[in-house]
Amino acid sequence: MTTAATDPNAGKRAAAEAALKEVQDDSVVGVGTGSTVRFFIEGLARMRARIEGAVSSSEQSSALLRAAGIPVLDLNAVGPIPLYVDGADECDPWRRLIKGGGAALTREKIVAEAAQRFVCIIDPSKRVEVLGRFPLPVEVIPMARSLVARALVQLGGQPVWRDGTTTDNGNWILDVHGLRITDPVGLEREINQIPGVVSVGLFARRPADVVLIGATPMADPPR
Ligand code: 5RP
Repeated sequence: MTTAATDPNAGKRAAAEAALKEVQDDSVVGVGTGSTVRFFIEGLARMRARIEGAVSSSEQSSALLRAAGIPVLDLNAVGPIPLYVDGADECDPWRRLIKGGGAALTREKIVAEAAQRFVCIIDPSKRVEVLGRFPLPVEVIPMARSLVARALVQLGGQPVWRDGTTTDNGNWILDVHGLRITDPVGLEREINQIPGVVSVGLFARRPADVVLIGATPMADPPR
């Protein structure tokens, strides 16, 4: 029998269930990508008659949403959306995130930007004091892979090409190892300025508004 103590997904499920309480009737819901979001989509399916539809951050989530009978809407057709729910690979005490383990970082960043409220759902293993233990994903235009990699080395990282992965946008991913990110906003800005970078998986300029660690909201950031 699976119990909360033995279920490795208990934290993810609990966070996803807690996030469902944030969904407003008749609204459009922004939906992220990954194994935690999969539980959120399962819950959304149960309440699909109460929502207008979803804006999705990946082909993977779009397929899950459609299979659950939830209309997938074009962001251009809906404008600002009240709520975006997504997971993360790391989260610091200021709700700044590393995302992109599932290679969906660019569309995730777009939907997060369009959202009035970004609720991040994680299990306790994702909570860190300083971002960077998880390799930082950077989506690059394929012809610029080596150029961008050299620039990332100049910034102190060790980029590794995620060989065999092509993003939903037709691009490639560099995973940057060895960073200790003490200025996430500055590093996000700096990496964004490298020609050939499509986006970086640092969500610091626009952090999450709420982080649910399992069912528990994370404490307010230190002052
Ligand atoms: C995908 C992401 C995911 O949110 C992140 O990788 C966390 O995934 P999971 O919920 O499976 O641990 O950023 O690009």
